[in-house]
Amino acid sequence: MGDRWYQEAVVYCLDIDTYADSDGDGVGDIRGLIGRLDYLARLGVTCLWLHPIHPSPNKDDGYDTTDFYNVDPRFGTLGDFAELLHEAQNRGIRVIIDLVVNHTSDEHPWYQSARSSPDSPYRDWYVWSEEAPPDRHQGMVFPGEQNETWSYDRTAKAWYYHRFYKFQPDLNMANPKVRAEVKKIMAFWLQLGVAGFRMDAVPFIIELTEPGNADSPKDMEFLTELRQHVQWRRSDAILLAEANVEPDQLPVYFGDSGGSANRLHMLFDFMLNGRLMLALARQDPESVIEALRDTPKLPEGGQWATFLRNHDEIDLSRLTTEQRNQVYEQFGPDEDMRLYGRGIRRRLAPMLGNDRRRLELAYALQFSLRGTPVLRYGEEIGMGEDLSLPGREAIRTPMQWSYKENAGFSTAEPEKLVRPVVDKGDFGYQQVNVTAQRSDPRSLLAWFERMIRTLREAPEVGSGSTTHIDVPMPPGVLAHRADGPTGTMVFLHNLGTEDAEVDLSSLAPEADQPIDVLSDRGYGEVGKLERLKVSGYGYRWIRLCRGQAV
Ligand code: GLC
Repeated sequence: MGDRWYQEAVVYCLDIDTYADSDGDGVGDIRGLIGRLDYLARLGVTCLWLHPIHPSPNKDDGYDTTDFYNVDPRFGTLGDFAELLHEAQNRGIRVIIDLVVNHTSDEHPWYQSARSSPDSPYRDWYVWSEEAPPDRHQGMVFPGEQNETWSYDRTAKAWYYHRFYKFQPDLNMANPKVRAEVKKIMAFWLQLGVAGFRMDAVPFIIELTEPGNADSPKDMEFLTELRQHVQWRRSDAILLAEANVEPDQLPVYFGDSGGSANRLHMLFDFMLNGRLMLALARQDPESVIEALRDTPKLPEGGQWATFLRNHDEIDLSRLTTEQRNQVYEQFGPDEDMRLYGRGIRRRLAPMLGNDRRRLELAYALQFSLRGTPVLRYGEEIGMGEDLSLPGREAIRTPMQWSYKENAGFSTAEPEKLVRPVVDKGDFGYQQVNVTAQRSDPRSLLAWFERMIRTLREAPEVGSGSTTHIDVPMPPGVLAHRADGPTGTMVFLHNLGTEDAEVDLSSLAPEADQPIDVLSDRGYGEVGKLERLKVSGYGYRWIRLCRGQAV
């Protein structure tokens, strides 16, 4: 794969501390992950996104850093990390890491110094106010767990700004020294060999915070600067960003008004995520069709990252109240399954009633839509959540590898585990684990392997253009196509329960011996595309034609 490798990548995200523990201390580590790279290669993953790897008091699962130039000693050493990069590279897997520079931990030496005196060289690295800012009860990201965005620090004798939790003071990006440091951090990890960054909280990084102004200006140029810097240091490195903003604001994150893609390479498609959830809940693809239609056109090289689940709550805040309630009703009926008044803290398998057909349908749909698919660890075997854990921890339980104690994640005493494994009910590790599924060709894991392999034979999905096929459709069915120089794929996904028949014969003249390359069951000949059956919760991926070059 060439320079645009990210457009045809399959990204897999994981937290080192809950993936695989090699030394039996109850915490996953880098050596443990290295031991699982063959598993990931077999699955077909081409890029790993590691959640924060730096030393941290872990009050926000590592999103509160105390040292940007090291790895958490619980995970291993920098030497281990370099080994990981090497071993991953040997298997054709790139590694990107979370870059969390909107804020630090309040235990970071920079903040400790900054608060100690107005004369500290680090004082201006953070955002201060002498007076209590009147807007301090606005803009909270974690309502219910966070009461304000400005807190008083008695040692500093001033108010400091924190967009997130109180223990995460925001860095002052208006300060050129902070900007230079961010670039140095990025250069350091690129030099070690990472393939790029998942940039945390980008709209807040570029915010030039002014006390009392809840709508402070944003400095988009900083993103252009970072992009240039990254590209000079490693030409194929990428920036994949979390920027959950209004759709009309999205294009400027990809590039400036000149139309060139000179900022972030990829953004997570939060808008699509909410609408996919709505479509699955309603068993009606309309909201996905809207999403395909409404997403802004990206500059050449800009790319979406699609996902069904990530490490946070499913954020439904961009749906209307009525739409959100429909999703809640189907997928988060109990209050306890919801979070921050806007989302759901569950994994996909339990949300879909552990219905294998619906799970395949949902993931087949995600992976066939435009963009680069991102898969969260454990989803490939259909793991569940533990609602007895607080907040987002419910979906951050250890990977379930086997029937062995602690799901084969660790040999430590169960009470020493970083988080308990799910060990009860339908999603307990006794029922859901890699060992069981690895040897079963009908397992969900085997299906994921097949689906990902098929996707990798269809590069037009990632790098071509995807459009809705606007012909009359039975209720519940979505037809879309992906076109690129490598050929054309056509997709049918039936979100409803009723078997359906679809007429796509208008596409027949374009077809060159069309065949099903992936489907929920054997449907027989594709023929002239005129009476294509697709079962309730079924799907068909049809190769329409190969491009000239292939
Ligand atoms: C992002 C992360 C989230 C974290 C927050 C603060 O939203 O996805 O997990 O808590 O940033 O860093």
